[in-house]
Amino acid sequence: MKIGIYPGTFDPITKGHSDIIVRSLKIVDKLIVAIAYDVIKTPLLSIEERISLIKQEVDFIKNTLPKGKVIKIEGFKGLLVKFAHQNNASLIIRGLRAVSDFEYEFQLATANSKISDNIETVLLPATENTHFISSSIVKEIARLGGEISSFVSPHVKEKLLGHYQKNI
Ligand code: COA
Repeated sequence: MKIGIYPGTFDPITKGHSDIIVRSLKIVDKLIVAIAYDVIKTPLLSIEERISLIKQEVDFIKNTLPKGKVIKIEGFKGLLVKFAHQNNASLIIRGLRAVSDFEYEFQLATANSKISDNIETVLLPATENTHFISSSIVKEIARLGGEISSFVSPHVKEKLLGHYQKNI
């Protein structure tokens, strides 16, 4: 069984992340969507909220997922490669949107391969419908009262709008 890890902050999950989840399942038999606790940026949503939104997202897109594949959604602390080993994953999957992403992703992939030589990184190019999406842009538009339906699923939109209404 080929096991892949799709790691990120997912603050919040967007249609761009969803697209990578669906396409990753063409490559691996089991995908672990791994939500990082320890990130440099300060997330808006708690880890529990981010995990819950991803669970609802997977439920929302379940009809588009290839049959017979397994998805697990888990938070992780510490090094990604360590978490990958603990879960017998041999691939790290990341989305690549633009040339500007490449430098960071290349650095991340190289660093991870230096820490562990048993793990490979696969970079999936974002589609033309999702390459402009980022979690920060979605949050900024939601904060300013803009329409985010084309970037995120309805439950994510509801969560963000609720959050910003509470904090006005
Ligand atoms: N479509 C749309 N948007 C996408 C996307 C896609 N296909 N792929 C990435 N993005 C966006 C995200 O929305 C996010 O936007 P933001 O910067 O505005 O928040 C950004 O690209 C990247 O976020 P994400 O995919 O969530 O990843 P990340 O860069 O926040 O995650 C970790 C980094 C968690 C993978 C990394 O920090 C890590 O591995 N941490 C664990 C500790 C560790 O092992 N460190 C050593 C690594 S060398």
